[in-house]
Amino acid sequence: MIGLVIDNDVYNRVGESWWDEDNPLNLLHGSLTPGRFAYFREVLGETIGGDYRGLRALDVGSGGGFLAEEFTRVGFRVTGIDPSSVSIDTARRHADRADLDIEYRIGSGERLPVPDSTFDVVYCCDVLEHVSDLGEVIAETSRVLKPGGLYLFDTINRTFVSKLVAIKLMQEWRMTRMFDTPIHDWSMCIRPAELTAILERCDLRLGEIVGLGPRSRNPLRLLDLARAGGTRLSYGELSRRLDFGRIRSTSMSYMGYAVANGESPPRPRDGLPEGQNQL
Ligand SMILES: C[S@@+](CC[C@H](N)C(=O)[O-])C[C@H]1O[C@@H](n2cnc3c(N)ncnc32)[C@H](O)[C@@H]1O
Repeated sequence: MIGLVIDNDVYNRVGESWWDEDNPLNLLHGSLTPGRFAYFREVLGETIGGDYRGLRALDVGSGGGFLAEEFTRVGFRVTGIDPSSVSIDTARRHADRADLDIEYRIGSGERLPVPDSTFDVVYCCDVLEHVSDLGEVIAETSRVLKPGGLYLFDTINRTFVSKLVAIKLMQEWRMTRMFDTPIHDWSMCIRPAELTAILERCDLRLGEIVGLGPRSRNPLRLLDLARAGGTRLSYGELSRRLDFGRIRSTSMSYMGYAVANGESPPRPRDGLPEGQNQL
């Protein structure tokens, strides 16, 4: 357990408006949610198949419910857990308005308020770099997954690139920052090899890791960081312009999956190109 140096209370202070495109948290929505979900759909298709009716999914750190709504729409019975009561209220209200049946509960990844071996799928996106005890969060995930269940994740790598983008550009440099509070601390970002070792200790066998980042090849898009916020460019639009999704490089962020309780991970879908799995 570490003393947190990041400001997780921001999800209470601005968590009423996750779905508002002018809220910086909406960066996770515009293209990141479709980009992450497209990859998870591929993994689900290869491991579980295409019919998710009746299967249970747990969203650890559900925020405003962006991904919980996607998983629900394709047939999962989703439970979302988050320590931020404001975010939970927002997610609940949005699901009600969209007529989606999602159970939301206040709780933390270190102590999931759900019984053992309950979920077919647990996913945890943009959360692992925010928690006070990563080992405990993964151990809890392993506890609540059914044998052979699937763990899906994405998180920020601890590299020079992530320090530049997630720390300097996004929260330190006045011209480009989206938050004036430390939402990330570089030392809490996780290298793939570190996560893999913790997964293994918790009986979760890694299937694969792939890169997650902007797919826009237009270098001018970086200038949009300085324009975002206020009335000039919404964070939702910035996210769409950056077109986040699966990329080759894992140097900024990465996503992947693991399988519970020592079951053999499904065969990788395609031979990974040289350098893609930089653990
Ligand atoms: C960057 S947001 C990601 C939200 C959502 N998963 C998404 O990708 O749209 C991080 C979320 O993690 C939550 N969080 C922080 N500490 C947590 C913990 N110990 N356990 C579970 N969730 C946590 C925050 O309240 C916040 O909603």
